Amino acid sequence: MAEPLDLGVDLGGGLRLRSPVLVASGTFGYGFDAPQVDRGVLGAIVTKGTTLRPHEGNAPNRIAETPSGMLNAIGLQNPGVDHVARVYAPVWASWDVPVIVNVAGDSVDEYVGVVRRLDGVPGVAGLELNISCPNVANGLQFGVDPGLAAELTSAVRAVTRLPLMVKLTPNVTDIVAVARAVEDAGADAVSAINTYVGMAIDVRRRQPVLSRGSGGLSGPAIKPLALHAVWQVASAVRIPVVGIGGITTAGDALEFLLAGAAAVQLGTVNYIRPEAAREVHGGIAAYLQERGFQDLGALPIRSTSVPTHA
Ligand SMILES: Cc1cc2nc3c(=O)[nH]c(=O)nc-3n(C[C@H](O)[C@H](O)[C@H](O)COP(=O)(O)O)c2cc1C
Repeated sequence: MAEPLDLGVDLGGGLRLRSPVLVASGTFGYGFDAPQVDRGVLGAIVTKGTTLRPHEGNAPNRIAETPSGMLNAIGLQNPGVDHVARVYAPVWASWDVPVIVNVAGDSVDEYVGVVRRLDGVPGVAGLELNISCPNVANGLQFGVDPGLAAELTSAVRAVTRLPLMVKLTPNVTDIVAVARAVEDAGADAVSAINTYVGMAIDVRRRQPVLSRGSGGLSGPAIKPLALHAVWQVASAVRIPVVGIGGITTAGDALEFLLAGAAAVQLGTVNYIRPEAAREVHGGIAAYLQERGFQDLGALPIRSTSVPTHA
């Protein structure tokens, strides 16, 4: 009899997931809004970015459709970490799917404050640091500077033993340098990527479509770019890489797994086809079965003959 398939993944720091299919921050709320989604196929739910204090987010327009994607400038709308820890986490503690809280902030102190509040709270299975937020002190984003990214990661690492994944921004010259820096600073895993900065202009109003002017581009339009970023990062770090960006089908997810990702997150597709996670999970299982592979470890292309840089 054939061995049963094992779709489990290890994201480091003791975080073992039963499935490589996660849902991405900002596209699944706090897990309460999509009862039609079969949580049984999910490896984990990643929450909306959570800050120390509640945020209302930006004024409308906050989203705009683009060819093969969308722009968003939601502005970290969230109820604040205290509400998340007191009201949401106790519910998550009764679910069989782990919930990873996406953490955001304006300063190292704010990130540390959020993480301190979440540390040891039942129902919080892990953290994803969103390092693409502006650093008010010097106007930079933590994620565009390897030194700042490392400083933030080690400050957070020092106050929690929760599994710690750091989410990389693609809006950099060298994503590998940032990935290596956060790995050295104690991240258990990296996720890549967040959205690309973009914009749209309403030619009749002669104004940017989004109230903030710019926003983050996501969806199928960014998939080849995201895949290349993951390919580069996965060949440069030893910690697990979680691939994100434009995944809508099992074929897309498999490309990321072949590129070296340990798992994937589905984002924008959740708005279009909430059943996508089930299809992607089923498609990955079928692919492994057809090829006689028993687990995901067989997937990554470990070829030294393929160039890692364009
Ligand atoms: C409406 C919306 C809100 C998002 N909010 C967050 C967020 O709060 N924190 C974060 O790290 N990423 C956020 N993201 C980025 C996604 O998690 C993901 O990295 C990105 O959309 C690329 O994946 P996709 O092409 O599959 O959507 C958001 C994306 C969208 C579309």
